[in-house]
Parts: sequence; structure tokens; C-alpha cells
Amino acid sequence: MAVFSLIFGCACHALWYLFFIVLVAFLGYSLYIKHIHMKYDHIPGPPRNSFFFGHTPTFLREMKAERVVHEKLLEWAQTYGPVYRLNGLHHAMIVVSCPEATKEILMSPKYPKDKFAYKRLFHLFGQRFLGNGMVTAVNHEQWYKQRRIMDPAFSSLYLRGLMSTFNERAERLMDKLADFADCKKETCMLHLVNCVTLDVIAKVAFGVDLDLLKHTDSPFPKAIEVCLEGMMYHVRDAFFQLIPKNWPFVNEVRQACKLLRDTGYRWIQARKTAIQHGEEVPKDILTQIIKSADKEESMGKDDEEFMLDNFVTFFIAGQETTANQLKPTAVNEIVQLPHNPPLPSIYLQVLKETLRLYPTAPGTSREVHEDMVINGIHIPGGVTCFSSYVTSRMDKFFKDPLTFDPDRFHPDAPKPYYCYYPFSLGPRSCLGQNFAQVGSKHTHSHSLATRPQQTLHICSHWGAVLAPCYSPFT
Ligand code: HEM
Repeated sequence: MAVFSLIFGCACHALWYLFFIVLVAFLGYSLYIKHIHMKYDHIPGPPRNSFFFGHTPTFLREMKAERVVHEKLLEWAQTYGPVYRLNGLHHAMIVVSCPEATKEILMSPKYPKDKFAYKRLFHLFGQRFLGNGMVTAVNHEQWYKQRRIMDPAFSSLYLRGLMSTFNERAERLMDKLADFADCKKETCMLHLVNCVTLDVIAKVAFGVDLDLLKHTDSPFPKAIEVCLEGMMYHVRDAFFQLIPKNWPFVNEVRQACKLLRDTGYRWIQARKTAIQHGEEVPKDILTQIIKSADKEESMGKDDEEFMLDNFVTFFIAGQETTANQLKPTAVNEIVQLPHNPPLPSIYLQVLKETLRLYPTAPGTSREVHEDMVINGIHIPGGVTCFSSYVTSRMDKFFKDPLTFDPDRFHPDAPKPYYCYYPFSLGPRSCLGQNFAQVGSKHTHSHSLATRPQQTLHICSHWGAVLAPCYSPFT
């Protein structure tokens, strides 16, 4: 009995201590949040929805209603000016649309990508995903090593050699569309363009001929789609995988992620074996990664995983963004230029204008360690965010911003000054920019031949990738 009351007494004490510790931790955390609020509250910004969650509930509401969250950022930029503050728990985020500050921050190698946002893509529901690949690497040294390795594979000279692949894949797309037209069958342009883009990336980056227009049972397009969808939930909702009703989907995402990485592993091994046997291999991205990784001793035993990070990165970064760029372009031309197909020389203008209104990867963020003055406001060091969607739709930067007008990008027109950056800017800007533009231009010029009658509206609200939504054409 005495032993029992001793244990009971100890348990009560322990509970009190626990309660006390939790209370102190809670008060301490609340005070810390208050401190962060006081540090940034002189910066204008929308009222917080709650002390703890800051503006997060607004974002959740927008996403639930399937609205583009960048629209909200635009609305706030118009109300609160070129630099405003947002909060969520103990985080404060500064949203900047001022061209001078955009230039200063994005163009400098001093400011790394924001750890909080990019590290969330290292894994996807526990399965390694983009890891330390080029898009998500936050450490400057680690990123720079990769960029140096990859740059030659995106040189103009190398890209010129890829023309035949771009043309050939565009021809295949046209053949496929012609088949549908002959049979008077409906098809989904979104799916076809995704397949072609994936085909091109697989061929030119990894030397593999997937021919997805023919092999319609390939698991790849679906795996990428599932990974992107998973990425969206993973980034938005930290508790998503804890809810039992989401477990089947979480599992599907893990499998899709694993499929991409396993495939990468097989392709890398096959290429390594070919190199060891002295076979002639294409000088593509895969060879570049393998050769350079072998040389870089500091990469050590993490080589395999690291190469797989980049394998997945290139599939994801190259495929979805480019495919989404192609789709609204065709539609915009149909809407805007019905009787007068644009000459090849203005394709690029059309593509640029498309990315102004529908940037496929609209946001980026940087950690700025030191204090700054932006637009006359003292900004304490912290996370700074940029959105090309926001600046591209502001009438102070673009006259009649919602009008689709490729002439804005006429070679003689004044260049937008740090208010248009669909490929981001500075050292962390898109490595595949030329690749995407060359590829899109080619596929695009072919696609005008058929001119499917479609209507466009942005139906996606994805944080990272805005995807246009199409009605199938007949
Ligand atoms: C229209 C098509 C594309 C658009 C709009 C686009 C846009 C972007 C943007 C905005 C970034 C910066 C992301 C950030 O700050 O987090 C980026 C980075 C990147 N993109 Fe693209 N991209 C496109 C196509 C491609 C293609 C085709 C490839 C490769 C084949 C590619 C490879 C990359 C890589 C490797 C990075 C990381 C660069 C670095 O941090 O050094 N992209 N892209």
C-alpha cells in the first residue's frame, strides 16, 4: 500500500511538473511570437486572422475554395504597397514587389533560398524526393557545384544539337492529333502535351526513348502527376499524412516517388556500365552528372542518392513547367490571333506573354540575413518572398495587365525592369530557360497547324506550379 501511494505521489508530482513545463513552454512560445510580431509590425500588412496562426487561415481558405493564392498576394500588394508583412506561428515573411529590392535580393548570390520552404521538398511523406537536387539545394557550395556541372548541358551549342529531337517529338504529337481528328474522337490536350514534354526530357536529358504517345500504359505521366499533387498537399498542410482518410493517397505518392527514383537508379546504372565498357554515350545531362559526380570526391558515398535527387528534379522541374507553358499559349493565340497565325519570329513574344499572365512557377523566396531598407521601410532580416504572378499583373508595371498582348515583348519595346521573372532571376534562375523556350517554340509552331478550339481558365491553385485547365476539344 505504501509503495502504491509512493508511486501515486510521484506520478502526481510528475504530472504537475509536466503541466508546469508545458505551461512555461506555451507562455515562452507565445512571448516569442509576440516578439516576432513586434519586430515586424511596423511594416504594413493585412490584419492577422489569429495571434498564433497569423495569415495562414486566409491561405487555407483560398486553397480550399480552389482559388489561386497568388491572387490574394496581388490584392494585398495593391492594398499594402510594394513591401508588406505576413505571419504564421513564429514566422514572418516579407512580400516584395518593388523592382529595386527584387533586383538587389534575387540577383545576389549572398542570399540563399529559404530553408523552411525548400527543405520541405527534401522528402515527400517520408520518401526522399527532390533531396539536395538543384532546385532545393539551399547550401551555396552544394548548389554551386551542381550548377557548374550542369551548365554545359544547357549551352546554346548543346541545345542546337537537340533541335532534331524537339522537331521529331512535335511531329509525333501532330500525328497523334491528326489520328484523333480523323476518328473524330475527343482527346485531352493537357495529357498529350504532358506526354510529349516528358518524352523530350527523357530523351535529351537521359537518352531514353519513352514514346509515351504510343506506350499509353507507361506509369510515368501518372507518377509525376501524383508526385506533384502530393507535393502540393505536403507543402500546404503539415498534418496531411496524419489523417487516416489520406493514407491511401499518401501511400500512392510514396509509391510514385519510389518509382521515379528506382527508374533513375536503373538508368544511371545502365549508363555507368556503358561508360565503363567504353561504349559511346550521348553527352547529355545524365553523362554530365555521372562523370562529374565521379570526380567530386567530396560528394562521397552520397553520390547515388544525390544523382537520384537531380534525376527527379529534372523530371519535375522540366516537365510540368514546360508542359503548362505550352497549353495556354495555343489557346491565347486562338483567342487573340485567330485569322493571323504569328510568324515564327514572334513565337517567343507569345511565349513570354503567356508566362507573364500564367507563370508556371510563380514564387520564390530568399533568406536575407541582414536588415535592409526597402521603399523607405526598415526591414529586419528574415524571409523575403517574390511572385512574378503579382508583379506581372500590376498596372503600374504593365498597361492593361490582363490583356494578352505579345507586343509587350517586341524586341524594340522597353524591357520590363525586375517586375517580370517567370524563370526567376540571378544565380538561382532557371537552368532550363533556353531549353524550355527552344522546346516550346518548336512544339508550338507545329501545334498551330491543328489549332484545337479550346477555352482556357486557370483551374489550379497549386502553390508551386500553376496549371491551366482545358476542356477537351472535338
Ligand atoms: C516554361 C518552362 C519553365 C519555367 C517557367 C521554369 C521556371 C523556373 C523557376 C521560376 C525556377 C526558380 C525556382 C525557385 O526559385 O525555386 C526554376 C529553376 C530551375 N529550373 Fe526551370 N522552368 C522551366 C523549365 C525548365 C526545364 C525544361 C528544365 C530542365 C530541363 C528546368 C530546370 C530547372 C532547374 C535545374 C532549376 C534550378 C536552378 C538553380 O537553382 O540553379 N526548368 N525554373
